[in-house]
Amino acid sequence: MKLNIIPVKWADEGVAMLDQRLLPTEEKWLMLRSYNEVADGIRDMVVRGAPAIGVSAAYGVALGAKQFVGTTVADLEEELEYICEVLGATRPTAINLFWAIDRMKRTFAAGRDEGLSVSEIKQRLVDDAKAIHDEDIESQRLIAQFGGELIDNDSTVLTHCNAGALATGGVWGTALGVIRGAVDQGKIVRVIADETRPYLQGSRLTAWELLQDDIPVTLITDNMSGHMMKRGEVQAVVVGSDRIAANGDVANKIGTYMVAVLARRHGIPFYVAAPLSTIDMNCPSGDDIPIEERDRREISHMKDIQLSPDGIGISNYAFDVTPNDLVTAIITEKGIARAPYTESLKKQFEG
Ligand code: MRU
Repeated sequence: MKLNIIPVKWADEGVAMLDQRLLPTEEKWLMLRSYNEVADGIRDMVVRGAPAIGVSAAYGVALGAKQFVGTTVADLEEELEYICEVLGATRPTAINLFWAIDRMKRTFAAGRDEGLSVSEIKQRLVDDAKAIHDEDIESQRLIAQFGGELIDNDSTVLTHCNAGALATGGVWGTALGVIRGAVDQGKIVRVIADETRPYLQGSRLTAWELLQDDIPVTLITDNMSGHMMKRGEVQAVVVGSDRIAANGDVANKIGTYMVAVLARRHGIPFYVAAPLSTIDMNCPSGDDIPIEERDRREISHMKDIQLSPDGIGISNYAFDVTPNDLVTAIITEKGIARAPYTESLKKQFEG
């Protein structure tokens, strides 16, 4: 394994992002030179995946602060309020976005209350955004270590969407972190990647990412997983999450719920890997998680090719919620949480 994919980086001129819209055929980096460009990058899916969105938003706030030309802390505060509003309006489901913005707001408030100057507060914000990024990578490393233990040697693991290095601060990933962790522990692991209609994060990103690390991957269409589970070709399912409610209900890429139901039917463990920054203790259950709905054109067209007739209804929910009773365990940087999640998740924040 090379373990060298980092999709977003802080640079002197702005925030550099690997353009995930072009993968797997083109590896192109974009330089986003303002917080507005970072917001566009998140909205337009240059970067995607909950932890990666959080890291990018933190860098967006830091960049906006760095480019602030005013001279008073009060004016900087007003500007930051606006910057955070713009970044917070990009995508509604991934809680990491709001988690990172809140943390940056607290960093500002601490600097202001300590009586720091505008330039000192700007530096604090840049430093904290970098710390959020470093901590995210460290969390994925621990998730990989804990989660790797749950995977049997010589097994095939199915995953949905892309919850890899590309979807996080980088290196390990969450669900793919668990797989990398198992490989790191010397186990033989093969991966089945659902292609993940309509945005194809599985075929474009997960397959590309695993290929970089020489982990064997087989791509399937989303409707093949039941057949393969029935044939005994899947030993575990591991997915990431965009937001986990306090009761353990898991919002993740559309289609995850279907996979979880199938896994239960076939007695296959269904694991969710996510850092604590993805757990929303203010959200009592999955019913309270806002679900993004995206452009119908993602379904009606494949690039410029029209796939369905004009004049019909099209639903494009980007995420679904898997009820906690279908989740075998939730793997975080603090260890493994099991049902009842209301208690075990709370403990993860205490320990
Ligand atoms: O719409 P996306 O590509 O941002 O959705 C990403 C997912 O659903 C991932 O599975 C989730 O964010 C976990 S990422 C470690």
